[in-house]
Amino acid sequence: MDSKRRKLLLGGLALGTVAAVPLLRPKALGQGGHNNYFKSVSGALHRAGLSGPTMVVDLERLKKNANTLSAHLQGHYDFRVVAKSLPALGLLEAVTRQTQTQRTMVFHLPFLRQLAQAQPQTDILLGKPFPITAARDFYTNLPNSSFDASKQLQWLIDSPRRLQQYAELANSFGQSLRINIELDVGLHRGGVPDDQVLSEMLNIIQRESRLELAGFMGYDAHAAKMPGILGGPEKAIDRGLDIYSQRLAQAKLQLGAAFPSKPTLNGAGSPTYQLYKSRIHTAPCNELAAGSCLVKPADFDIPTLSDHIPAAFIASPVLKKLPYTQIPGIESLTSTMRWLNPNRAQTFFIAGGYWKATPESPVGLSINPIYGRSTNQEMLNASAKVTLKEDDWIFMRPTQSESVFLQFGDVAVYEQGEIVDRWPVLSNS
Ligand SMILES: Cc1ncc(COP(=O)(O)O)c(C=O)c1O
Repeated sequence: MDSKRRKLLLGGLALGTVAAVPLLRPKALGQGGHNNYFKSVSGALHRAGLSGPTMVVDLERLKKNANTLSAHLQGHYDFRVVAKSLPALGLLEAVTRQTQTQRTMVFHLPFLRQLAQAQPQTDILLGKPFPITAARDFYTNLPNSSFDASKQLQWLIDSPRRLQQYAELANSFGQSLRINIELDVGLHRGGVPDDQVLSEMLNIIQRESRLELAGFMGYDAHAAKMPGILGGPEKAIDRGLDIYSQRLAQAKLQLGAAFPSKPTLNGAGSPTYQLYKSRIHTAPCNELAAGSCLVKPADFDIPTLSDHIPAAFIASPVLKKLPYTQIPGIESLTSTMRWLNPNRAQTFFIAGGYWKATPESPVGLSINPIYGRSTNQEMLNASAKVTLKEDDWIFMRPTQSESVFLQFGDVAVYEQGEIVDRWPVLSNS
């Protein structure tokens, strides 16, 4: 190729690239301010006199989700509320009332104490094995309520070693303990992995008079995400339930008449509970656990929860509005960056930030990837189409509930256009 032709070709390429840049620029997002729903929540927050980052729970939406869940369970499975995912007594009360259940699943010693104290009628299954020190702590400082741990509490155990520790604890306190054995149904996070380990554990229960088998738990969160190439969710659930049934049969055989007449056979979680609907005749479980789906954080936008609706939002006021986005040190690039991405036309600094959450309203808000995150005053950007003023509220959707709910103080309860209540969150100490 002669040099003239090469130059022509290179020139053409450069021109083409420059011409393509405007086509590659993202579209300016935004539709003005909030839609009617978020306008209504904003008004309610202002009238309630709130001024800082707030977790808002929409009670009507929460109840709708609870009704959706109950409809799927069809009265065939009992429902156990996962307390860590709805960590406020008010939330738990609203859900247990709506779904007519007394059963909760608890994951932390402080939550166990608070629930046993404040809702002494509750039936508690632990969702993870507690170190023996936590169990000792519980029996040393028993709740001052009518909660009867020997009838209403099931300790989750998945190894002979820990079970033996619990047997010693039971003997030293003169307490009988109800034991629920965790099964590994494919998640491989914990749980009894094979029939030998189960047999060893059942031997200990048979030997130790203060230990009583209450049932089994098998959690299957892996199933919802199983790719089609590996068989997909349905196959993963079936495989897990096969394991569950085998272990159950083994326990019935080994314990004979000592097998409980009304065992707790717990399974599922938000991502999988709807997959149990078509298995009412084959699944060995008699109760399903779920919590997150009742407020539906963004991580739960999955096909198996398509009929649940988001019911929890973080609200935060705009502290500062700027008609540009300036990055320290490269102020001279402000206009270029705006031209390259029109969604950097405006800046809003909000109170707090850096939560596990994604911007929700008004449409078009985004986090700036260069400026840096802040837990004190986070920068959000938007195009010129977004009409927000200082002191307006912005809304974000938590991606999960369990840790995010604990970062805002009392939950603001929104119902029919007003904040009708404030619910303290559970303390994690
Ligand atoms: C044992 C167990 N069951 C059920 C769940 C489901 O909880 P959620 O419905 O809030 O996702 C979890 C969540 O971690 C769990 O660990």
